[in-house]
Amino acid sequence: MGLFIAFEGLDGAGTTTQSRLLADRLEEEGYPVHLTKEPSEGPVGNLISLVLKGRLVAPRAPRAVDPFPDDLLALLFAADRIDHLQAEILPKLHEGMVVISDRYLLSSYAYQSLGCELAWLRSINEHAAVPDMTILIDVPAPVCLRRIEKERWQTELFEGIEKLSVVRKNYLRLASSRFGETMNIRTVDGEREIGAVHRDVWNALRGSDLLGRGGGGGRGASGTAGGIESGTGGVAPGLPFGEKEE
Ligand code: TYD
Repeated sequence: MGLFIAFEGLDGAGTTTQSRLLADRLEEEGYPVHLTKEPSEGPVGNLISLVLKGRLVAPRAPRAVDPFPDDLLALLFAADRIDHLQAEILPKLHEGMVVISDRYLLSSYAYQSLGCELAWLRSINEHAAVPDMTILIDVPAPVCLRRIEKERWQTELFEGIEKLSVVRKNYLRLASSRFGETMNIRTVDGEREIGAVHRDVWNALRGSDLLGRGGGGGRGASGTAGGIESGTGGVAPGLPFGEKEE
C-alpha cells in the first residue's frame, strides 16, 4: 500500500513548486508517484475553481457582502475531498504509489475557519482520511502576496492581505496544537530559495520512518483501506489512518 503526503501553505507559499520537486525526487529514488491537487480535477473541484475565480456566484441575501456563502463553499471543499479520495487518491494508494496532494484537509481548517466553526469543519470532513504526513510551507502573508502579484494577472477569493494573515495564524496554530501532532504536520520555513526549502522537505520525509517502509508499507496504506472500505467513516478526523480516538 502507498504513502499519502499533503502540502499546505498560503497562496504564493510555493506548495505547487515543492510538491513537484518532491515528486521528482521520489521518482529519482525509484518510488512510483502520483501528483495531484485540491481543488481536484473532478466535477466538484471544477465547480470550486469557478467560484474562486468569481465566475460562479450563489444567490445572496439582500446586502450580503460575501461573494459566496462560507458554509456552502466549505461543504463543496469537503465534497470534492471525498470525490478526490474515492476517484483518485485511494485507487493510487492501493496500487502502492506515493500520492502527493498540493493542498488537502488542512486547507479546509485553515481557510474555511475564516467563516465557519472548526468543530463543524471537522465534522463535515470526518470521512476524509488523514495523510501520513502534512508538510506546511510557512511564508508570511506579505511575502506571499508579493509573489502572487508578480505571477498572476487575476487574484482569487482568498488573496487579500488580511485574510491571508489570519489563514497563516490558523495554519501555525493548527500545526502546534495536539491536533497538529496527530496529523503529523511538519512546518518548513518557505521564505528561502526553492532548493533550500526542498532540502528541508526531503529531510523531513527521509527523517521520518515513512520512506523506510518503502512507500509500500506506510501506515497510510492499511488505515486508508480499513477506514474507507468499512463504510463506517472509521478514520477519525485529525488522526492518522486507521487510528481510532481513545
Ligand atoms: P490554489 O491552491 O492557488 O489553486 P490554483 O493554483 O489551482 O488556483 O487555490 C486554491 C484556493 O482554494 C486557495 O486560495 C486555498 C483555497 N482552499 C480552501 O479555501 N479550502 C480548501 O479546502 C482547499 C483545498 C483550498
